Amino acid sequence: MSNTSKDTVRLTQMVTSAGCAAKIFPHILSDALKGVKWETNENVLVGFDGKDDAGVYKVSDDLALIHTTDFFTPVVDDPYTYGQIAATNALSDVYAMGGTPINALNILAFPQKEDISIIKDILSGGADKVKEANCVIIGGHSVDVSNILYGLAVTGTIHPQNIKGNDCAKQGDALILTKGLGTGVLNNMVKFSELSENIYSGLIASMTRLNKNASEQMVRLNANACTDITGFGFAGHSMQLAKASGVNLVVDANKLPVLEGAINAVENNFLTRGDKSNREYTKNFYIAKGLVNKTIEHLIFDPQTSGGLLISINEKNAEELVREIRNNGDERAEIVGYADVINDYEKGAIILEY
Ligand code: CO
Ligand code: CO
Repeated sequence: MSNTSKDTVRLTQMVTSAGCAAKIFPHILSDALKGVKWETNENVLVGFDGKDDAGVYKVSDDLALIHTTDFFTPVVDDPYTYGQIAATNALSDVYAMGGTPINALNILAFPQKEDISIIKDILSGGADKVKEANCVIIGGHSVDVSNILYGLAVTGTIHPQNIKGNDCAKQGDALILTKGLGTGVLNNMVKFSELSENIYSGLIASMTRLNKNASEQMVRLNANACTDITGFGFAGHSMQLAKASGVNLVVDANKLPVLEGAINAVENNFLTRGDKSNREYTKNFYIAKGLVNKTIEHLIFDPQTSGGLLISINEKNAEELVREIRNNGDERAEIVGYADVINDYEKGAIILEY
């Protein structure tokens, strides 16, 4: 099975690395950003510093705008599916803030010497997901270069008091992860090998499922903090949330939801380059306890494309939230640990118990 719809062109063969695994390494990026002076003002509620999912800008006392952009190279060969995944992923940062996406711009890079009917399919996939989000595309920008890139710049709305930043996790909170891990290794298997039909469709279902319902439920049940799991993996995004909130996250590695086929993909060594860079990124903050399961550990560092939300919520509401999220499509949602402040560890450290 080749998981392709067009016989002649395989999108994943036209690019060097795929999806969120193609991010610039975080240590290289942070070195590069150091030299730049970022201006800010009193309306910037969430800006460059906190490594949050999106920027938030106050317009009035009861309205703020959320701005985010995300685009990447093809993770699958089917252009329509790729468009859906890229749009779902771009919308996710608005959902991670607890906001409502209202409009979006297309961002497209495509070598125009190739079959341009592919463009229509990519944009149709994106448009359908944006519609599902009750959001509208109002423009875009395209360039003719040798690599394919697609994604969105998204604007959302939120009440300035209701922002689910990554800096408000509280000691004692329960941690919920809404989607299974493993998209990096599974996408790598799509690129370099193939997946069985049911594993492929499970992977696509996960990457094209909007974080909309999970976000609405966590807002309704007053979650304290949230982020989505993308290129820096579960470890990287957990660390960012823990650092910003000044807490430790204690995670039961055996509770982490995992996509079907992901264990097999790790065991067959379909690791991405992000596995290494995410280890490097988190090395002073990742603490493993117990008998480490190396396979699960790879999934903790696996870069995710269109991954789930990591939600920090008062433990009183955690069971109800998991139930609601599962009932709304994210069947693998799980309580995976809790936030704490442990004197032995630096704030920001994440403790994985195996
Ligand atoms: Co994000
Ligand atoms: Co992002």
